[in-house]
Amino acid sequence: MAATAVAALALTGCGRSDDTGSTSGDTSTGSSTGATGGFPADSLIGVSLPQKTSENWVLAENLFKDDLAAAGFKADVQFANGGVGEQQNQIQSMVTKGAKVIVVGAIDGSQLGTQVKAAKDAGATVIAYDRLLLNTDAVDYYVAYDNFQVGVLQGNALLEGMKAKKPNGPYNIELFAGSPDDANAKVFFDGAMSVLQPKIDDGTLKVVSGQTQFTQAVTQGWKAENAQKRMDTLLSASYASATLDGVLSPNDTLARAIMTSVKAAAKPLPVVTGQDSEVESVKSIMAGEQYSTINKDTRNLVKETIAMVQALQKGEKPTINDDKSYNNGVKVVPANLLKPLIVTKANAKEAYANDPTLSKLTQ
Ligand code: GAL
Repeated sequence: MAATAVAALALTGCGRSDDTGSTSGDTSTGSSTGATGGFPADSLIGVSLPQKTSENWVLAENLFKDDLAAAGFKADVQFANGGVGEQQNQIQSMVTKGAKVIVVGAIDGSQLGTQVKAAKDAGATVIAYDRLLLNTDAVDYYVAYDNFQVGVLQGNALLEGMKAKKPNGPYNIELFAGSPDDANAKVFFDGAMSVLQPKIDDGTLKVVSGQTQFTQAVTQGWKAENAQKRMDTLLSASYASATLDGVLSPNDTLARAIMTSVKAAAKPLPVVTGQDSEVESVKSIMAGEQYSTINKDTRNLVKETIAMVQALQKGEKPTINDDKSYNNGVKVVPANLLKPLIVTKANAKEAYANDPTLSKLTQ
């Protein structure tokens, strides 16, 4: 019965969507059908992306544009390189234009409450993409690679990489985290520390600088120059005589900045972790410099997001595989979590076998 009702509504919706500029009609369809009622198959879908702090965001832009269009939707895909204010305006304008779903990769997950509430009030569904939206109940779903698991994999890789170079500790390490406004940064760090903290406590690992807190390890704006500067300072303050064995880096851009700093100081390269499978880092891994990265294939994440949009369009419930992990401070956001994969030189060929760009680098 429900399916018939949904089909009827979808048909009504299709008819309506042919009228250009019938904003009020669209709005009433949205509110009368609610979150489970579906919407016209050629509706506008808004995608609000943060700053281009890593390659995955640039890839996401193109994939969302192409794949939403291929699925029959109208796509409004925007970056907010100007910062939080720009992202707030973009989301507000997507709401005004009548977007039925708004997909948000937030610069600062705690600063978009007003805009996503406006989206909900207008009958749209809000999906947090890659980064969670915090302290708001106006977020329906979360789709991301499991961020805590990313950190766990990084922590394990750091230990394994150092062990391969030097079988027994203690090991001297330093810790880097991502941008504190990005909700993922703390989760990555906590995941890594779930592995590293016990080893710090038992003396296997020594953070020579003493900077073990997230607030001390953060890298504002995920900016390479900030990580490089901090590494310069750490090297001169704590490694005049001590050897640096490893660095926890939360992503590839920062990993390369950290290695640049170490090279400039004419020190031997430590084991450095990463994330995102950026081209330059995959090259570095193959050259034996950066130790590891994480494969979070953006194509799959965008595909899952669009599958959610398609389910919503039909009035169906999108796929959710986790309803307990991502509490945003106000609610536990139902999530579709994908599995991240650790990549080192040893498994790079296999890991990127179906990636046309990266597979060329592992031959
Ligand atoms: C995170 C994302 C990472 C990395 C970082 C910097 O939120 O999950 O993959 O790209 O942003 O852009």
